[in-house]
This record gives sequence, structure tokens and C-alpha cells, in this order.
Amino acid sequence: MSLYGRHFVEMNDVTADELQLILKHATELKTKQKRGEPHRILEGKTLAMIFEKQSTRTRVSFETGMFQLGGHALFLGSHDLQVGRGETVEDTARVLSGFVDCIMARTYAHATVTGLAKYSKVPVINGLSDYEHPCQILADLLTIQEDKTALRGLKLTYVGDGNNVANSLIIGCVKAGMSISLACPEGYWPDSTIVQKSKQEAAKQSQTVEVTTDPSAAVKDADVLYTDVWVSMGQDEETEKRLKVFKPYQINSALVAKAKEDCIVLHCLPAHYGQEITKDVVDGKHSRIFEEAENRLHTQKALLSLLLSKESQTLSASRKN
Ligand code: CP
Ligand code: NVA
Repeated sequence: MSLYGRHFVEMNDVTADELQLILKHATELKTKQKRGEPHRILEGKTLAMIFEKQSTRTRVSFETGMFQLGGHALFLGSHDLQVGRGETVEDTARVLSGFVDCIMARTYAHATVTGLAKYSKVPVINGLSDYEHPCQILADLLTIQEDKTALRGLKLTYVGDGNNVANSLIIGCVKAGMSISLACPEGYWPDSTIVQKSKQEAAKQSQTVEVTTDPSAAVKDADVLYTDVWVSMGQDEETEKRLKVFKPYQINSALVAKAKEDCIVLHCLPAHYGQEITKDVVDGKHSRIFEEAENRLHTQKALLSLLLSKESQTLSASRKN
């Protein structure tokens, strides 16, 4: 098992065992960072970060993470790059990968990030595309594991838009041996191919993947409740329609009361209070939302270390059991 030199563009780019390895490595790095122990695994390495869309968490966690690992990160707004003036994704990937050790990209079209991966000589990480947000799910799973100890057999319920986060979450939960139910309005369901394939994978482990339009039914027996914005980046023109369609798909205290008593609530953030979630739930006792945000840092440091350092995985793998 080696993640060295690989891309992380979709949740399916890692196996269930590799996912566990990333989480284990993240825990190690988190402990080291909290104890103030040096872990300059990526001394002298550079990460290029391409952003077609805005970001708070992804940008700052990757940039800080590279710094803590002894490396360096470059912020590249797509308007500043020549790609904004028509240079091809192919040429951009070829050129950048001659300079840097890794490329992270936040894009509109998923094809842009897969295109970068196709032509890059160095690992490419998806920092969110319209189709998937795999880095987010690493942080989500670590947060759940920290609270519940073991992931296998837990039930997560996602309420809201069947978007990029939902797509990656389905794959991630199934890889972690969890069941997932999603409550989304008609017409806003997650990617049907992901749902179908994940149902088959889940069944092999006696777990389930269910999609419904009914939030109350979906949250029954849930260990984890999860939501994301009703209007993703790039969908601003649909705002008025979406605010109406998604109204019944809010995580509020009444919905939380229908899940397990010790359930935790997650949100990838940014949150829109009074839309997909209420402020009392974000600030309430079930919320692990800000722990989740912090875990972006620790899980991405683990990911970067494993993709960019051969030694990293040998160390982590040898401690696996
Ligand atoms: N959750 C997340 O990706 O946040 P940002 O958009 O701030 O990066
Ligand atoms: N679904 C949201 C996630 C933001 C982190 C979006 O794509 O805007």
C-alpha cells in the first residue's frame, strides 16, 4: 500500500485501507502538532494551489499545512494565471509540474481537475470541483472517528442538496464501512452512478445507501447529521428557486431530536444560518463543526505527506496495527 506519487482527485482514488492509513497518519500529525514536536516531512517541497473559486478553509489549511511540514505553498488565482487568458489546462499542468512537487486545484468543471491530473508529472489534489470535494470528507471522517471511536457500522444522514460534498460523502462513508441516508428534494439528488455503485459496495459490508425526499425518515437512528449550503459556488443565479425548494431541508433542533440522542452534527462550512442549519444547532452540544474545520489541516497534512514522501507511508504503515 503506497500513496506515493498518486493523485487524489476523487474519493475513489483511495481504497478503504488507504483511507484508514490517511486517517491514522492524520492523528499522528495532529498529536505531533499539538505537542509542538517538529514534523518537517516535506522540507523543500512546493505546492501550487490553483483557485477558480473562493475559499477560506481549503486555502488556509493547505498553505499552513505545507508550512508546518517544512514546505511552501503558492496561491495562484485563476485570473492571475495565463489559463485565465486561454492557456490550456494541459500546458498549465505540464509547466507547473516542472516547477512544483504537487498541485491542488479548486475548479468549476470536474474535467479541469482531471485534466490537470492527466498531464501533470506530480500529484494533483482536488480542492473541490462541481462534482466532488474529497479533501472535505477526510476531515469529516476523522472528526466522526474522534467522537465515536470506530466508523464501521455508524449511520450518517445528509440533509439538503445532493451536491459535490454529498457525492464524496457517499463514497467516503461506504469506504469507511458506514451506512448513509440522504434526504434531498426531487431533482437535487446526488449523482446516480455514485449512488448505484455505492449501494452495491455497501451491501457487501451489510451497510446501506438510501436516498429519500423525507428528512424525518432519513435521520432515524442517525449517529451523524450533516448538511451543506443550499446554493453552491457557481449556482448564484438559482438562489431564489433554491431557497424555496430547500426550505423543508434544514437541520434544526426539532430534526436533531429525531436522530440518536448522542448524535453529532457536521457542516463543511461556510454556513448560511437560517437556511440549511440554525445557529442554535451550530453552537449546541451536538455540534462538532469547528473541530471538523480544524481537521481539514490535519488530514490534508497527512494526505500531502503520503503523496509526496516515500518514507511517510512506510512509517505510518509499520505502525498500522
Ligand atoms: N469547506 C470548505 O471547503 O471551505 P472553503 O470553501 O472555505 O475552502
Ligand atoms: N457545496 C459547496 C461546498 C463549499 C465548501 C460549494 O460547492 O460551494
